[in-house]
Amino acid sequence: MTLLVTGGAGYIGSHTVRALQKAGFKPIVLDNLVYGHLRIVEEVLGVPLVVGQVGDRALLDQVLSGEHPACGGEPVQAVLHFAAYAYVGESVQDPAKYYRNNLADSLTLLEALVEPVRSGTGTAIPIVFSSTCATYGIPDTVPITEDTPQNPINPYGRSKWMVEQLLSDFGAAYGLPSVIFRYFNAAGADPSGDLGEDHTPETHLIPLVLEAMAGLRLGVQIYGDDYPTPDGTCIRDYIHVCDLADAHVLGLELLLASGGQSVYNLGNGTGYSVQQVLDVARKVTERGLLAHVAPRREGDPPVLVASAEKARRELGWMPAYPDLETILSHAWVWHQRSDAELLSNDE
Ligand SMILES: NC(=O)c1ccc[n+]([C@@H]2O[C@H](COP(=O)([O-])OP(=O)(O)OC[C@H]3O[C@@H](n4cnc5c(N)ncnc54)[C@H](O)[C@@H]3O)[C@@H](O)[C@H]2O)c1
Repeated sequence: MTLLVTGGAGYIGSHTVRALQKAGFKPIVLDNLVYGHLRIVEEVLGVPLVVGQVGDRALLDQVLSGEHPACGGEPVQAVLHFAAYAYVGESVQDPAKYYRNNLADSLTLLEALVEPVRSGTGTAIPIVFSSTCATYGIPDTVPITEDTPQNPINPYGRSKWMVEQLLSDFGAAYGLPSVIFRYFNAAGADPSGDLGEDHTPETHLIPLVLEAMAGLRLGVQIYGDDYPTPDGTCIRDYIHVCDLADAHVLGLELLLASGGQSVYNLGNGTGYSVQQVLDVARKVTERGLLAHVAPRREGDPPVLVASAEKARRELGWMPAYPDLETILSHAWVWHQRSDAELLSNDE
């Protein structure tokens, strides 16, 4: 079965492409390569790549109908929509970029998916959508369930929340089947070491720490050590990227079997503080790290931890790599390999 994976040249998308391949699906990647990696799609995953923008309706129609040369004549049966820009700080500085890319492009995609319904020629093409715990903003209580009120506090979070609203309205009006996944902090890498997290610029704690461990950065900043948490640093829920990828296969299978509209948190339900991440990183890498305490960042909640009970119960999802040490060791293998490749390319 042919699937369209938008943003499949990025971090979570590329790991999900591999999980989909293993499950017997035929993924096609659509990515503008602004942040994605051509080499990962073409050489590591070996799947067709369409370079372009999700908001390009003519291109979408060609791909969805199977007429694009990359599709081998087969129409797309479902879409996994990862493509988005995801830098919170940038979204505050330049909200237009985020609403254009994350919201307007998603609207174009959804319009294309429901076109058969609107033109009376068929049914809507189901979609799995990458949302985020950022749609909850600063929650009053943890763990966060799917029913926790959503109050996003930045344009990035709001752009994702708005797409969730589109999905709800399109489901009601056009019968568009959807699964929304709200990820907590994706981390780790494929245990084989050939896929991993490679963002430029990098803002996520674990890769920043590992880059510092590898000598590529002077050290890391701890943004605030006076939060109401046991060691004063922020607590987050880290979920292995391969566990996220597996959840997508399960969500897709549910969608194809039963349609409907559902939403699931994806996290481990266990929180680790910034300080704990640094301690585990020192243990895994057996290296030292310079950490500097900086002022708190505006809008950083003290604790974000998921309840992912619903995904476990309804999808039968069971994270294979829940402990932080495994997540960090897989990420470290990837970093050592990709850093070595970077250095050899520079020679
Ligand atoms: N990484 C996390 O911890 C995390 C947490 C919550 C939610 N998410 C969401 O998961 C998704 C994937 O995140 P990621 O970390 O893999 O990001 P990523 O930047 O590695 O991947 C996103 C990919 O989408 C592409 N892209 C962006 N906008 C596009 C567009 N309009 N048209 C075509 N291609 C486009 C980029 O080039 C990139 O390859 C995003 O939607 C993000 O908001 C990520």
